[in-house]
Amino acid sequence: MIKVVSPSNIAIVKYWGKHGRQLPNNASVSFTLSNAVSETSMTFKPKSGPQRTIYFTLDGVEKVSFAEKIDRYFAGIADFMPFLADYDFEFDSHNTFPHSSGIASSASGMSAVAMAICEMERVLENKTNIDLQKASILSRLGSGSACRSVYPDMAVWGKHPAWPGSSDEYAICISDKMHDVFKSYHDDILIVSDKEKSVSSTAGHGLMDTNPYAATRYAQAGDHMQRLSSILAAGDVEAFGQLAETEALTLHALMMCSDPSFLLMQPATVGVIHKLREYRQTTGLPLYFTLDAGPNVHLLYPDEVAQEASSFIRNELLPMIENASLLPDRVGKGSTLLPQ
Ligand code: DP6
Repeated sequence: MIKVVSPSNIAIVKYWGKHGRQLPNNASVSFTLSNAVSETSMTFKPKSGPQRTIYFTLDGVEKVSFAEKIDRYFAGIADFMPFLADYDFEFDSHNTFPHSSGIASSASGMSAVAMAICEMERVLENKTNIDLQKASILSRLGSGSACRSVYPDMAVWGKHPAWPGSSDEYAICISDKMHDVFKSYHDDILIVSDKEKSVSSTAGHGLMDTNPYAATRYAQAGDHMQRLSSILAAGDVEAFGQLAETEALTLHALMMCSDPSFLLMQPATVGVIHKLREYRQTTGLPLYFTLDAGPNVHLLYPDEVAQEASSFIRNELLPMIENASLLPDRVGKGSTLLPQ
């Protein structure tokens, strides 16, 4: 049995718009998270019938739709992993974050599966090490953002001149290009609403094909990637936070002016943002936010202000929202294989 723990990630420069075989329309960068993870175990044996079979359980409950998704995924990556056609598979997966929390499970879930089959390949071919770059490519083919989850700290995905070695095919780890302040960064996730997302990521990316601001957006993302290379190296948490907020609001603005339009922020999202900015202005503390393609607010701050920031979040922001919950998280180590 192969067991993998793989994390979710939160983008600072957002991937929004894609083409071809899961290739991004702009480069992106994310923090790898620590607590929001998928724990996935995979067993395989030579197939017993003419067709490969896949059995999938989530928290012990059979999920036929997930098994079908993995089957389509395996068929789609047959050029990379032809041996997958010769085995029957059983998966069991568990997410540490609540299913209804709005946290994307595709990044952690798909990177976990990709890591598991890379480990399978390593075992079958008697290799010493797993090929992380291949794991990132295969994660990307499962879900774009998943390709950034395999690495520790922060990862860049998408070819960009400011990031040597970057590629549209896989993400690269940028630990050696970032100041230490970012290696212990916090991302507390304030769950504003646990309803299902009203637009899937795939449909959302598609909206960019006809968005009138698409070209401007891709130019802006390129500029942000450029600026981030010096911001990350210098450890400039203010410039970092400003850029993260601009990215988050741009992502939502793009969805608002898409056709059809999606307004994914809730009144509470906007209330929290106002309160947070007020707090920042009064205290000068570097507490900033980013958003995913949904209403929940990711609260970003360096470890050195953890005490003040986290008590403000718990005592002032959390009570603003009915039925809210908080998932404290921080920068993590990337995908890990558990010893057998
Ligand atoms: C807003 O990676 O979920 O989180 O490639 O279609 O699976 P697919 O999309 P997905 O999109 C993530 C979009 C985002 C921004 C980001 O993570 O960069």
